[in-house]
Amino acid sequence: MLNMNFDERIKLFKGDITKLTVDIIVNAANSSLLGGGGVDGAIHKAGGKQILEECMKIRNKQGGCKAGNAVITSAGNLKAKYVIHAVGPVWNGGIGEEINLLERCYARALKLAHQYQVKSIAFPCISTGIYRFPKNIAAEIAYKQVKEFLLQNKNLEMIIFACFDEENFNQYKSFGLTILNNKIES
Ligand code: APR
Repeated sequence: MLNMNFDERIKLFKGDITKLTVDIIVNAANSSLLGGGGVDGAIHKAGGKQILEECMKIRNKQGGCKAGNAVITSAGNLKAKYVIHAVGPVWNGGIGEEINLLERCYARALKLAHQYQVKSIAFPCISTGIYRFPKNIAAEIAYKQVKEFLLQNKNLEMIIFACFDEENFNQYKSFGLTILNNKIES
């Protein structure tokens, strides 16, 4: 595993991220850390109240989580050890810091995962839903951040891009990634 190229360690999955058995599931959260719709809603629903309780503790301590940043909780009833709640930027035509913030969001989530010495991580397509980030630009950013991280971190065995919608799936497919079959699902 240690000698695998970075691209052999990136996989593509089409479907619900909450069904994956990985060490860390990344959530596309908002600054309040109190849950919401989209993938955030799905993670809190499947993971149960433990995740929200831990998010509230973090919120009480540090006052939420700004765009471009990430925090970690346990994973409740999910088949994962941890959930990283990463807050992406809202797309505003690309005139602000959106690109930098999304880069930072992936970088921070990866750094946090590294500190927990895990072997596998699954990412949703952060900011590409309710936050309206263009899917092609977001996919390029996510892929570049993950690639740079894997080149420097030989111990991480697998990073999965979990794409829920066809458009995101096709974006990531254009990178030539190996598609995971359903065996990893519960
Ligand atoms: N598994 C994987 N991906 C999912 C799932 C799921 N169960 N449900 C939705 N998605 C995908 C969407 O198709 C989209 O491509 O997640 C991507 C991100 O969309 P959102 O969940 O809307 O996240 P985002 O655009 O980052 O907006 C964040 O949405 O629900 C709120 O609390 C959240 O306010 C925050 C905002």
